[in-house]
Amino acid sequence: MPNLLDRLGGESAVNAVVDKFYDKVFSDQTLAPFFANTDFAKQRVRQKRFLIQLMSGQSKDPATYMRNAHRKYVDEMGLNDSHFDIVAGHLVTTLREFKVSDTLIAEVGSALESLRGAVLNRVSENAA
Ligand code: HEM
Repeated sequence: MPNLLDRLGGESAVNAVVDKFYDKVFSDQTLAPFFANTDFAKQRVRQKRFLIQLMSGQSKDPATYMRNAHRKYVDEMGLNDSHFDIVAGHLVTTLREFKVSDTLIAEVGSALESLRGAVLNRVSENAA
């Protein structure tokens, strides 16, 4: 079976999805404090690159990358499950807007879920 990236429509589809997804993330007032000092354009590029690699199975150690990228926000700003759920929800909504099938949305959802423990820097969840 082709990888998840190809089934979603390849890099150009993921780039379009991430742009719309980040329009929602960056305008969400609950999430805004976390992105107060963020270069939005750079962050869009990094997220596109990461998701493209993740969904094509090319990420070498996504858990360590996610752990390091978010540690500061967990330690200093209380990044937690509720924020993760909001971000994941924005991605699901965006995929629906792009008419992605429920089956594929569920696959993207589990790919994200596998990173929850790493993003939230939980020692008990080292998987992914
Ligand atoms: C599975 C879910 C998530 C994924 C795949 C993800 C992905 C990423 C990536 C690829 C980066 C860039 C790291 C770098 O190279 O510097 C990043 C940074 C960041 N993420 Fe996430 N993230 C997730 C969840 C979250 C959540 C729930 C929040 C909460 C608001 C969040 C807030 C941030 C912030 C504030 C940064 C740093 C932005 C900056 O450099 O200014 N992320 N994330």
